[in-house]
Amino acid sequence: MKEKILTTKIEVCSYNELTQCDKNLVDLAKSATQRAYAPYSKFHVGAAILLSNGELVTGSNQENAAFPSGTCAERTAIYYAHAQYPEAKVDAIAIAAFQNGKFEKSPISPCGACRQAILEYETLAGKPIRVILYGSDEIYILEGIKALLPLSFSEF
Ligand code: THU
Repeated sequence: MKEKILTTKIEVCSYNELTQCDKNLVDLAKSATQRAYAPYSKFHVGAAILLSNGELVTGSNQENAAFPSGTCAERTAIYYAHAQYPEAKVDAIAIAAFQNGKFEKSPISPCGACRQAILEYETLAGKPIRVILYGSDEIYILEGIKALLPLSFSEF
């Protein structure tokens, strides 16, 4: 029997080490957490997207009394981005989370459904989407969403 080992490369850095462009995207994701509607989980997530046309789009999680009807920040942002700018490619997405009055220390990582949704637009664009996961202690940078979705499903 053969074995295959899949590896994920993550760049770990501090806020001060980010480029001005990445700092800006992280700042937008952080401020988007404050617009989350999360009365049930009290977990406030923000996402910010940089598009190839230079536009910046943000989103936050929007919960619902019927729990499954709620939506994560990442999907709020990426669906809005593609609905508004269908011709633009998604260059990068930054994600942050705020709970109990402070930002999470460890980077927050998108759920499986959001990974699959982000992959759709990465595949459509034909180029990787840079993923920046914010934590107040450290930040993870991934070169593309496939780093978070090994053996991913895609019909293209
Ligand atoms: N959530 C996000 O918005 N993004 C993630 O990547 C993980 C979870 C939301 C969903 C729900 O409103 C709350 O966080 C708690 O799971």
